[in-house]
Parts: sequence; structure tokens; C-alpha cells
Amino acid sequence: MSEAPRIVLLPGDGIGPEIVTATRRLLEALGEFEFEERPMGGCSIDAHGTALTDEVLETCRGADAVLLGAVGGPRWDTTDPGAPRPEQGLLGLRKGMGLYANLRPVRPSPALVGASPLREERIAGTDLLVVRELTGGIYFGDSGRDGDAAHDTCEYSIAEIERIARVGFESARRRAERSGRAPRVTSVDKANVLETSRLWREVVGRVAPDYPDVALDHLLVDNAAMQLVSRPADFDVIVTENLFGDILSDESAMLTGSLGMLPSASLGAEGEPGLFEPVHGSAPDIAGQGVANPLATFLSAAMLLRHGLDRAEEATRIEAAVDAVLQRGLRTPDLAAAGEAAVGTEEMTAAVLSELAA
Ligand code: NAD
Ligand code: IPM
Ligand code: MN
Repeated sequence: MSEAPRIVLLPGDGIGPEIVTATRRLLEALGEFEFEERPMGGCSIDAHGTALTDEVLETCRGADAVLLGAVGGPRWDTTDPGAPRPEQGLLGLRKGMGLYANLRPVRPSPALVGASPLREERIAGTDLLVVRELTGGIYFGDSGRDGDAAHDTCEYSIAEIERIARVGFESARRRAERSGRAPRVTSVDKANVLETSRLWREVVGRVAPDYPDVALDHLLVDNAAMQLVSRPADFDVIVTENLFGDILSDESAMLTGSLGMLPSASLGAEGEPGLFEPVHGSAPDIAGQGVANPLATFLSAAMLLRHGLDRAEEATRIEAAVDAVLQRGLRTPDLAAAGEAAVGTEEMTAAVLSELAA
């Protein structure tokens, strides 16, 4: 028998430890894994003065997969450019592990259509994937303070755009095999204003003929933000740069009813470990209350199994168990309609565990 996969757990801050502990129990119920837990984010600043130590980065690089809760919180919020920030740990991890492709699937659970702020007829049939470029753009360009001014620079190279465009087209192909729908990529940019966006549009267009079976269209980001809520079911794969992807994925999360439902996978070169994390943050407003929705992290563990460990069958089991408990009417407070009874993290976790055991 091969060795148990090594998974590094980075619980982080706020609700991070609550949802990662719950997810560990889920994975333990599925099979043999070797877990290593490390501090990253605000908790690492407290312990080591930096959000990501070299030792933690190296441990993550050497793992089979990394599962992250969330980092950040008011305790470490500062506008001092010299002070360490929890978010630097996450960005350092993405860059240091070469995780340039962030996949954020938005597939509203049939039981949750009523939990979305959008009317049911608008979101019916929504099943889309945001492919977000994760190691370039304004997040990683030169930035700083200059006297009474500040700057952040957005830069993209042809190579960076080309590789994420290919992830977009290939994801659309794979999704079409599963769904039978005609594959479509929507590339989102701001080519009417930004030079990086004009290069983006040019390169995506140049890659497209390699995927003649995939339809391509381009949308300006402001229009895309509007179309996402007016006709979400028409989207298939959205491929976009780092900052636009950050914003559009939180917006897309509300199609599923709550930010607490959206998982993600951050992937790099073939054979290198991926990082799996919910799209939401550390939710300091509800941390420590036992009410955090663990489902986005459960679904991130499913992505870890599918994309990180090539164990698609177990991934599907987690997804089916999540759908089943929602179907049974279980709701954490973020999903519950006004007046509807809600359960906490523990009860939701126990329900998914018993569904897995059934
Ligand atoms: P947030 O995503 O933490 O919270 C936004 C709202 O959604 C809050 O009302 C919160 O209670 C709710 N929410 C989020 N996740 C939930 C869950 N699982 N269950 C129930 N409700 C949930 O965003 P924010 O408040 O803007 O950011 C808080 C901190 O998190 C900041 O420091 C930010 O930098 C950080 N952050 C971290 C990550 C990450 O680690 N990947 C992602 C986003 C934000
Ligand atoms: C996300 C988060 C991060 C981002 C922050 C915490 C750095 O919002 O993963 O979406 O902006 O990428
Ligand atoms: Mn975000």
C-alpha cells in the first residue's frame, strides 16, 4: 500500500481553526492521511513576527496538498506600510508555491436556490467556474508610499496570460465532457482603459484557435459584474486577472446563497502541491461562536481530493453528502431565511459525517 498522503493544515485566524478542525474530521472519516498543522497569517505574526515563515513555506512545498482556513482580522489591521499583515502570508504562499491558477466553482445547491438574494428564475441552471490568475497583476507589482502619495502597479507578461488562458480553455473542455453543454470561455478585462487588459485580450485571442471547440467572448469587467447577476446561468468559464477575479468571485458566491458555500483550488505546475481554501475570509464578526458555515471548507477538501490527490470518487462523496444535508433542511445562520431554524458548525459537521457514513 502506498504511504498516506501528507496534508498540511493551515487553520489561520478567526473562524479558520473552527472550520479546519471540522474538515479534518471529515477527511479522517474518509481515509488515512498524515496531517501536519502550522501557523500562517495573524497567528504566525504573533508567534514569529511574520505571517509566513520559511519553515512553513518549505513544509507546504514538500506536502501532497495544503488546506487553509482563512487569515486576517482586526487585531492585525493597520495602515502602517512597515507592519506585518496576515494577508502577506497568503500572498507569499501563493507566490512561493507558484500557484498561478485559482479555480472557484459556483454551483448553487438545488436546496439553496431560496437562500440566494436573487430570484429563483434568475439563478436556475447556474453552474460556472471563475478561473482567477493568482500570482500576477496589481497584487504583486511594485507598490509603495512616495511622500504624500502611494502607488500599486499592475503588470502582466504574455507568458503569465497565456498559461492562465490555457487553464480556462482546458477547464471549459473538461466541464463540457461532464455536463454535455457547449463549452464557453468569457474573458474579463478592462481593455477600454488598461494596457495590461489590452495585452490580456490580445493573448487570450491568440490562444483561442488552439481550442476551436470552445467558444470565446470578451466582457469588460464592469459589464461582467452586472451580467453575473442579470444572467448568471449563461456563464460557463470566466477567466480573468487577479484583482477582477477576487471581486467577481465574491459576487458569484452570492449566487450560491452565501460566501460560506464557495470553495477554491489554487494550482501551479503539474505535480506540485496545490492549496485548497474557502473563498471567504476569517469572518471576525462570528469567530469563536461556533456558528461558522464549514461547507465551503468541506467542498474545498473535495477539491483537494479531486485536483490534489486524484481521488475523484471521494470528492464526489463529500459533495453529495453536503447536498444531502442541505436537502434535509439543515442551515447554518448565514444560509437560514428569516425565522428559519439554524444549526451551528458542530451540528452541521456531525450531519455531513453521518451522511458520509450512511
Ligand atoms: P469575510 O469573508 O471574512 O466575511 C464577510 C462576511 O461573510 C461576514 O459577515 C462573515 O461573517 C460572513 N462569512 C464569511 N465566511 C463565513 C462562513 N464560513 N460562515 C458564515 N458566515 C461567513 O470578509 P471580511 O470581513 O471582508 O474579511 C475579514 C478578514 O478576512 C480580513 O482580514 C480579510 O483580509 C481576510 N480575508 C482572508 C481570506 C483568506 O484567508 N483566504 C479571504 C478573504 C478575506
Ligand atoms: C481571497 C482573499 C485574498 C485575496 C486576500 C485575503 C489577500 O480576498 O482569497 O479572495 O485578495 O486574494
Ligand atoms: Mn477575496
